[in-house]
Amino acid sequence: MRLATIPRYPLTTTPTPLTRARNLEAALGEVSPRIYLKRDDLTGLAFGGNKARKLEYLVADALATGSTVLVTEGAVQSNHARMTAAAAAIAGLRAILVLDARNGDALAGNFLLDRLLAAEIRVVPDKEAREAEMQRIGDELVAAGEQPYVIPAGGSVPLGAVGYVAMVQELQAQLLEVSEAPGRLYCATSSLGTQAGLTVGVRAFTASFSVRGVAVEGSAHQLSDVGALLANATAELLGVEERFTSRDVQVDDRFVGAGYGKASPEGLEMIRLLARTEAVFLDPAYTAKAMAGMIADIQAGTIDPNEAVVFLHTGGGPSLFPWGEALLEPTTRSPS
Ligand SMILES: Cc1ncc(COP(=O)(O)O)c(C=O)c1O
Repeated sequence: MRLATIPRYPLTTTPTPLTRARNLEAALGEVSPRIYLKRDDLTGLAFGGNKARKLEYLVADALATGSTVLVTEGAVQSNHARMTAAAAAIAGLRAILVLDARNGDALAGNFLLDRLLAAEIRVVPDKEAREAEMQRIGDELVAAGEQPYVIPAGGSVPLGAVGYVAMVQELQAQLLEVSEAPGRLYCATSSLGTQAGLTVGVRAFTASFSVRGVAVEGSAHQLSDVGALLANATAELLGVEERFTSRDVQVDDRFVGAGYGKASPEGLEMIRLLARTEAVFLDPAYTAKAMAGMIADIQAGTIDPNEAVVFLHTGGGPSLFPWGEALLEPTTRSPS
């Protein structure tokens, strides 16, 4: 495998901690397996999160190709956009963010951090309007003599997914230290880069666990197809012989709730549960829904209580702040 030869621009503080969530286990009672949290909310780049691992490879490529501006897109509360702006600041590049305001545009959380990071921001009304704006910006930059490096939403291209192939090796070493061989790893899944990278990593490093993505938008069927394509392209990039089908990319779409960026009642309950048991903060859009998925499986008896399970905490903390007291109310579905 070519992993070690792919240039990486250091942006993360790794290994991120792997911690046992004993208080959460106690709260769940006898049905609970041993639960480990892989704390990728602590990757260290501007409040952390999963995108930092992808950006290490993408920024290295941007610099190697002489690019001057990182251009990316997402929603106003995009964690990926915030971390791209942070990576650009560190690497001495400009950052332009195309952000859609479908879930509001309060100047708080990630959106406020984007401004502090001096990103240039273009707000569009909805997701559909992003593509044309991205195109327009690309044209403008080229006309002005700049060299844009366009990062698709979530950084979910094969080079970005490489970050999560590498993470499996890191996690394997940590699991060995605590003598655990978990059967499953749960994570939030959206643009699939994280899950595709993990899927390749599990096979390449013969990990004990399967990866279970909990969708935050879209259907399981669609997402598994996209994930398999991305896993294959990532494997190819790395010279990994294995090939993947949609059956290798397990997605649970029961916890999407009212849709992308909208909190679900069970997700809000998870935010409160993890805060009071482990002092760990989940976010309404991604990690709360993923945790709801894992805990539903635990409560349904799908996971053997004698086993270990890993929850990959992919970050998102800054997007808690625009919600304000809505986080304290069980049924709220939109940020303020
Ligand atoms: C906090 C958080 N968790 C999970 C994800 C999903 O990762 P991916 O887009 O690689 O599926 C994202 C991506 O936006 C995120 O910000």
